[in-house]
Amino acid sequence: MDMMTNVEVDKELFRSQAHIWNHIFNFINSMSLNCAVQLGIPDIIHKHGQPMTLSKLVAVLNINQAKSMGVYRLMRILVHSGFFVKQKLSQNDYEGEEEGYLLTPVSRLLLNDEPLSVRPFLLGMLDPIMTKPWHYVSQWFQNDNPTPFATAHGRTFWDYAGHDPIFNHFFNDAMASDARLVTSVVIKECKEVFEGLNSMVDVGGGTGALAKTIANNFPHLQCTVFDLPHVVAGLQGTKNLKYVAGDMFEAIPSADAVLLKWIMHDWRDEESVKLLKKCKEAIPSKDKGGKVIIIDMVVENEKGDDKSIETQLFFDVLMMILLPGRERNKKEWEKLFFDAGFSDYKITPMGLRSLIEVYP
Ligand SMILES: C[S@@+](CC[C@H](N)C(=O)[O-])C[C@H]1O[C@@H](n2cnc3c(N)ncnc32)[C@H](O)[C@@H]1O
Repeated sequence: MDMMTNVEVDKELFRSQAHIWNHIFNFINSMSLNCAVQLGIPDIIHKHGQPMTLSKLVAVLNINQAKSMGVYRLMRILVHSGFFVKQKLSQNDYEGEEEGYLLTPVSRLLLNDEPLSVRPFLLGMLDPIMTKPWHYVSQWFQNDNPTPFATAHGRTFWDYAGHDPIFNHFFNDAMASDARLVTSVVIKECKEVFEGLNSMVDVGGGTGALAKTIANNFPHLQCTVFDLPHVVAGLQGTKNLKYVAGDMFEAIPSADAVLLKWIMHDWRDEESVKLLKKCKEAIPSKDKGGKVIIIDMVVENEKGDDKSIETQLFFDVLMMILLPGRERNKKEWEKLFFDAGFSDYKITPMGLRSLIEVYP
């Protein structure tokens, strides 16, 4: 009986150890995927058009051929995490190897030529400039720096972007890729949000990926992309799209609607209320069609599957590491809206994020 109890205790001990190991090495999932994308593996398998054997993949890859076993091991973990599948080759295709790699719906979203590709977002988020601040989090808790990003790099996030053109470029690209994906859904599922508007300003609209699609789909709608000077410098508008440089905490160009995608989660509550008040000054009253359109997360406290909840929690901590921002639940959003003098709002869930219409 005693022995049984010991075995039970050992099982528990090993389970705990394994749980810790899994968390210690969680980053291997993201860094393996990053490596595969940097090497262009999804694109190569896609171009091949049929299950691709390891030797064919290795032969095409621009790598030291002595490292082919490393490719096998990299692919094995990415098959495990659902980015590739292995399929048996038919008799005709048999080339000494019985199986080849194929993409999954997830890795198709990482292709270079895929219009809604998440690739720039992945490469941007896992760049060393973005991951370095994680080594400064405990130090940041003890100092009075605004963020671990500022602790690591000596500048705040937007200041850094304004001083480092390479970082500015890849961060804007990462944002634009997300904006294209989100806009494709918004145009399909939430078209009515933009109907009846004559003008719209996308505040913190980056290089204009979202506004361009809206402007193309609503030719009568005058769109303005408003962002910091280093983001919009040199960008050319179209008939119904223009770029304006400025600081959203000072003044926002007037329009029927202000759009804020992935802006509010960058800021603390006090800056968010200040920004919402500036938005309110820029739009007409509710009966004249004025509104603010926010695309951001509404954190579910209880609902949602484990992965969704975990991903929302990842974003919340990420916003603390890079910026002085946070993700918010419905109650926290509501408080911001009412504190800024808005009267009503409507939430439309969209994947892990929501589209929130806020009325003056
Ligand atoms: C997280 S990005 C979101 C970009 C874009 N809305 C999107 O979702 O693809 C935040 C944007 O806010 C801009 N931004 C930061 N501070 C700003 C300010 N004071 N005035 C105007 N734009 C600002 C940044 O340059 C950046 O483009």
